[in-house]
Amino acid sequence: MGKRVIKEDFRRRDIVSIEDFSTEEINYILEHAEKVEKNPMEFANSMTGKIMVPLFFENSTRTVGSFQIAMLKMNGKVLDFDVDRSSIQKGETLKDTVKTIEAYEPDIIVVRHSDDGTARFIADVVDIPVINAGDGKNQHPTQTLLDLYSIKQIRKSLDNVNIAIAGDLKYGRTPHSLALALARYENCKISFVSPEYLKMPRDLLKKLKEKRVNFEEYGLEELEKVINQTELVYMTRVQRERFPEGPEGDFEYKKVSRQYCLTLDMLKNVKPEFRIMHPLPKVTEIDPKIDDTKYAYFFKQAKNGVYIRKALLDLICQN
Ligand code: CP
Repeated sequence: MGKRVIKEDFRRRDIVSIEDFSTEEINYILEHAEKVEKNPMEFANSMTGKIMVPLFFENSTRTVGSFQIAMLKMNGKVLDFDVDRSSIQKGETLKDTVKTIEAYEPDIIVVRHSDDGTARFIADVVDIPVINAGDGKNQHPTQTLLDLYSIKQIRKSLDNVNIAIAGDLKYGRTPHSLALALARYENCKISFVSPEYLKMPRDLLKKLKEKRVNFEEYGLEELEKVINQTELVYMTRVQRERFPEGPEGDFEYKKVSRQYCLTLDMLKNVKPEFRIMHPLPKVTEIDPKIDDTKYAYFFKQAKNGVYIRKALLDLICQN
């Protein structure tokens, strides 16, 4: 049994890695998000007088959009900061950029960057709270929180989860954070399904082994067999932008792109309670005909991002 968690524990905290939180803290955040979802009016002024700075060095629809909506729905403000129109394009360093933003006294910075470790770097440089909105192939902790929230919504508990995580497990940051998060809960079983070139990093599997997680690895040709035995599949796209630049990366990408697609036909023997999750954006890995079936959960999952991000902003920016 860990330490009892209280709201004040989250004041001015950074969120860089899902591993920065205890399981009790994760459970507290999920419960707080449920309160936010059920009682929106109670939080309608939580961000009055607060300003968020989104620093997105990589494209985003859901993460930036749901953080902005979360701020606006709680009466907060968002700085219109566009990296492409900023002095970073003149060669200003990241450190000078964030030190300058800090001097303007916003309440929170949300950062996405293509390099692993950037959120940690910024969190070390500034004194205001920093949320990692995805750093390279490393982590996407707020996505993981909304994934856990969605799993709990689907099956009421985070214990005894039997999930397939499929696709680009090498470069996909969301499978990395999710596997580490699920490892905290009782008796989880994870089936990793990927092309040979895109398998889960060995150091992450070592961590799962140390935590005594029950996991297996499968090739893509086994996807249909695997999903017939699981209650959830977490699909991911090939992260083209993270392949090495040049001929080696082009060669590897050609080998794996369009190699997998979850089709309606593959769902004919799944369990009735089976659901398909995806952090989105999806490209070619799920047949759009699946979107309107009872199995598709990804748009509901994306909606949950607003509740999780409202909850996090409310907890971190509390007075
Ligand atoms: N899931 C996710 O991070 O989506 P975006 O890249 O659109 O933010």
